[in-house]
Amino acid sequence: MSEQDAQFTQMINSQLSRRGFLGATAALSAGAFLSLNPVAKAIAAASSPLIGFDAVPASTADKVVVPKGYQAEVLMSWGDPIFNGAPEFDPSGNQGSDAQAQQFGDNTDGMSFFQLSDERAVLAVNNEYINIDLMFAHDGKKLSADEVRKSQAAHGVTIVELAKTGNGWQIDKGGKLNRRITAFTEMELTGPAAGHELLKTAADASGTQVLGTFNNCANGQTPWGTYLTCEENFHGYFGTEQAANTQTALNDDYGRYGIKAKPSKYLWHSHDERFDVAKHPNEPHRHGWVVEIDPMDPSSTPLKRTALGRFKHENAAMTINGDGHAVVYLGDDERGEHLYKFVSKGKYIEGDNANNRSLLEEGTLYVAKFSMEPDALKGKGEWIELSFGKNGLDASNGFNDQAEVLIYARRAATVVGATTMDRPEWVAVHPGNQYVFCTLTNNKNRGVKDNQPVGGPNPRAENHYGQIVRWSPAGGDHTANEFDWDLYLIAGNPTVHQGNLYAGSDNINKDNMFNSPDGIGFDKAGRLWIQTDGNYSNEGNFAGQGNNQMLCGDPMTGEVRRFMTGPIACEITGLAFSDDQRSMFVGIQHPGEKGKPSHYPAGGDSKPRSTIVVVTRDDGGVIGA
Ligand code: FEO
Ligand code: CA
Ligand code: CA
Ligand code: CA
Repeated sequence: MSEQDAQFTQMINSQLSRRGFLGATAALSAGAFLSLNPVAKAIAAASSPLIGFDAVPASTADKVVVPKGYQAEVLMSWGDPIFNGAPEFDPSGNQGSDAQAQQFGDNTDGMSFFQLSDERAVLAVNNEYINIDLMFAHDGKKLSADEVRKSQAAHGVTIVELAKTGNGWQIDKGGKLNRRITAFTEMELTGPAAGHELLKTAADASGTQVLGTFNNCANGQTPWGTYLTCEENFHGYFGTEQAANTQTALNDDYGRYGIKAKPSKYLWHSHDERFDVAKHPNEPHRHGWVVEIDPMDPSSTPLKRTALGRFKHENAAMTINGDGHAVVYLGDDERGEHLYKFVSKGKYIEGDNANNRSLLEEGTLYVAKFSMEPDALKGKGEWIELSFGKNGLDASNGFNDQAEVLIYARRAATVVGATTMDRPEWVAVHPGNQYVFCTLTNNKNRGVKDNQPVGGPNPRAENHYGQIVRWSPAGGDHTANEFDWDLYLIAGNPTVHQGNLYAGSDNINKDNMFNSPDGIGFDKAGRLWIQTDGNYSNEGNFAGQGNNQMLCGDPMTGEVRRFMTGPIACEITGLAFSDDQRSMFVGIQHPGEKGKPSHYPAGGDSKPRSTIVVVTRDDGGVIGA
């Protein structure tokens, strides 16, 4: 065991004094760990204690609440114009696609902040999906051609320049980099699957030219200045009215991704034929990828990076390994799906844009296999290579080349025996670069479906609360095939459950409890910010947990403190910081979804709107400190 492995084992042991189910075996004090761990020592030196704000209580109010001494101001809401001369938001639902294409899209999600100077920055933001009932002047059960186009224009990515004024960061509608990327923006498929037969359509015989990105969930940011947007639930946009004729033509590879021969809820197929899966069965293969965008060049073509695999991507957490390889951790958010890692073939060279911008073109994709002992909340894991000709990925399992391994990455992961997870959402790499965290949001199928046994990092049957798994690559090398893992926290409800895992881990109590961790990210000092997308009923298993929220965790001691609560029926998702860490951008997604009584942000009788807020401190200090 290397010195680092020994340190990690001690760290894991220090976390394992859990409420009754592990006993107090081998528990080291956090102090003992801190004195040994170089990352923790650096954090302690930078600011001790790491977390310095007063916790906010759970809330069911229709507003954003932040700690005493902080404020959260609206930056931008769905429908706000992002260009000079673009129309203002019209709550009637009667505005058309031309207006929406010049306005902020719906359902703000992952975002990245690119600082240009002390007073200028660019914000790139995903617009994941739409709230159909709020978007139109009717219930959205039948759409005109322009309404389909409007729906498509409300998806994708929004890029806006920000200017720092006396009132803090504001959007600059005159910004030359402002851009909307939508479900009909021209893009290019690149990498090993580009040009494959399975990617060719009637409109694109080359298999490389594709229109649009949609259901852009979370994100990533590269050190060479590009934005990564991740295509998640792309299946929901494909459908057909020709159900009877089509069902037999859709093989298991459609089913594995949820594509069905029936009308889709978004109804795009009703006016845009390429979404009719009966007529264009290869179009779905052109979605479900990570897309690289240059936010500094509004005329640039977004590039779909097939080397990173096709699945329901959550985010793309990139780190540069010690030896220069770009490593990207990737979750596939569906019950019983998997956790992936991409390692670039080439190496990052600071300042060499031509080199760096090809790093996501070529490399090796891996999928995680965890040790699965039923009662061990820690263990070992390995990354299994998903390369054609290895590990059974050949004709005997229906794969003819690497492109098929990538297009059907989920099937490839099953063939190699990857661990089925409790819905991997965001991954975040600690700034010290030795530890990686991933939210496993919840999974009602755990212990119910045969392929989803209880054990390892998925330790509860019918898991309604979620957990956060943490791992350390062997030798601190992100290209290594082995890792050690433990659970940073197990969400639960200690006021409803006692003496079992549904109460949560020791670092969860009645004052910080929550369910369904989803967005996570580190700030520069190593605070772990945790956002939730969970059950907001405040009843039963979820009594006392209130609306969705954001918490701040110390990644080493396990302390977790609630920082923000959101309005009614929202999800908190997306976070970014200004370089000085004194402005924090947070997404409030779909307040008032499904007819719930929210009027956030404007109040009164107003229509609820997805909104980005900027959080600052009254004294101008570092957020969270
Ligand atoms: Fe778009 Fe898995 O959340
Ligand atoms: Ca999410
Ligand atoms: Ca979620
Ligand atoms: Ca959501």
